[in-house]
Amino acid sequence: MARTVSTNPLRDPRDRRLPRLPEPCALVVFGVTGDLAKKKLIPAVYDLANRGLLPPGFVLLGFARRDWEDQDFADLAREAAKEGSRTPFRDEVWDRLAGSLKFLSGAFDDDDAFDRLAQELRDLEASHGIQGNAAFYLSIPPPAFPTVLKQMERTQMASNEAAGGWRRVVVEKPFGHDLESARELNSLVDDVFSPGDVFRIDHYLGKETVQNLLALRFANTLFEPIWGSHFVDSVQITMAEDVGIGSRAGFYDETGAARDVLQNHLLQLLALTAMEEPVSFNADAIRTEKLKALRAISLPEDLARYAVRGQYEQGWLAGQRVKGYLDEANIPADSSTETYAGVRLGIETRRWAGVPFYLRTGKRLPRRVTEIAVSFKRAPHLPFDVTDTTELGHNQLVIRVQPDEGVTLRFGSKVPGSAMEVRDVAMDFLYGEAFTEGSPEAYERLILDVLIGDGTLFPNNDEVEASWRVIDPLEAYWRDTKPHPYRAGEWGPAAADEMLEADGRRWRRP
Ligand SMILES: NC(=O)c1ccc[n+]([C@@H]2O[C@H](COP(=O)([O-])OP(=O)(O)OC[C@H]3O[C@@H](n4cnc5c(N)ncnc54)[C@H](OP(=O)(O)O)[C@@H]3O)[C@@H](O)[C@H]2O)c1
Repeated sequence: MARTVSTNPLRDPRDRRLPRLPEPCALVVFGVTGDLAKKKLIPAVYDLANRGLLPPGFVLLGFARRDWEDQDFADLAREAAKEGSRTPFRDEVWDRLAGSLKFLSGAFDDDDAFDRLAQELRDLEASHGIQGNAAFYLSIPPPAFPTVLKQMERTQMASNEAAGGWRRVVVEKPFGHDLESARELNSLVDDVFSPGDVFRIDHYLGKETVQNLLALRFANTLFEPIWGSHFVDSVQITMAEDVGIGSRAGFYDETGAARDVLQNHLLQLLALTAMEEPVSFNADAIRTEKLKALRAISLPEDLARYAVRGQYEQGWLAGQRVKGYLDEANIPADSSTETYAGVRLGIETRRWAGVPFYLRTGKRLPRRVTEIAVSFKRAPHLPFDVTDTTELGHNQLVIRVQPDEGVTLRFGSKVPGSAMEVRDVAMDFLYGEAFTEGSPEAYERLILDVLIGDGTLFPNNDEVEASWRVIDPLEAYWRDTKPHPYRAGEWGPAAADEMLEADGRRWRRP
């Protein structure tokens, strides 16, 4: 039966094409002077203001240790917005937003500072017509989570009832460093906020192409019938970075590539690729299907072959000589932290049984690229001479998450001329060319979702714990091994290539 849809979007309140506007609210950012706030959060708030997506009653209340006045914070925020915003910087937009900025100085263990913060929030709510709605963004070092959560509980800042509106919390990754610590963190957050009010940021889920994966799979008839073991040979999910560890040596050396990227971004991409169709496009239905996919993941028995980690040595990248990991500032000379992780996973469901999912991430690889490549089986019979198809590879559907967001379909095509020769060609969809509307930055999209209360793009406790169940055994296996070396500017260690060669396959060179 044909679906009837109102042609006038203003008539149908469920119409998702309508711009979504949050109710009047406060955004409290703990750690507002930090790297993440400067690079991502403040520019995203500016972009939302510029697009008219912030409510008239809005305040951004920043909290950090340094002894700053409101004006110092306003200066920092202006610079951050100017440097990092996606949309053009306009003075009139900034001036309006600047009137909503406030800074409060204090340490997380300082009760007085939190009492002042609670009072300040109440005052701002009254002066800006905000009826108890506030989101608290924990952009702070993970060890500070318990102290800040307890302070919020003590001052009743987190209580919906006391505030008379909604109270939400945004938690940045890492969500723990193993299953046990993730459970502790989850229960700590759950003691203070109810599960529906907790928003865990995995910024990859805010990317347009990642959401497009759901549209591609579930809005079309073309792909779903071939999405599974009957037609798919294997899937490769890659997040490669050309940069090194930058100024985050302490954090990175404690964390490593598997915990930093594999546990969250790559497993989330895998879940979206492998999940079944949700019964509807809402947060619960999507999370239910992602969780089933995550729980169905199996690790290879032969970890020595199929779980490879590496560490970059000095090499050349884009014509520049770059240091090895052990020579980076503040990295111990004997560190065995991995900067590359590659693994073969299986998914034990009827749809995916026997299809390997190869996941890899690394720093100082030749280029920055994130993609999901679904490789299809070869045609069961080729009615050509062998020489006609020597240049024919596997058909592939490549979802490019970044950069050059889009989708590529690779298939064989006849080379023009009187001879018969089939060679791979590519058909390309590029977001930037197909649409005039630019994609929002991931943080822009996700902060708006928090203020609206839409949890669709945020992993929940169960997903986080299911992901650690995959990572913990890998970490336990790697604990007593040394990472394989690879030269900066190469696509990871030789052992990672051997892992695919053992299966008769090769990594893509995107
Ligand atoms: N940076 C990134 O690109 C990135 C990416 C993904 C996730 N994250 C996560 O985001 C969070 C923030 O990271 P970040 O890189 O922005 O950290 P950061 O640069 O170290 O900033 C930490 C912030 O917390 C404040 N702070 C620290 N200890 C405090 C205390 N005892 N009392 C009051 N304020 C205190 C600092 O204030 P003062 O400067 O005034 O001391 C600063 O504003 C972390 O959980 C991180 O894992 C960051």
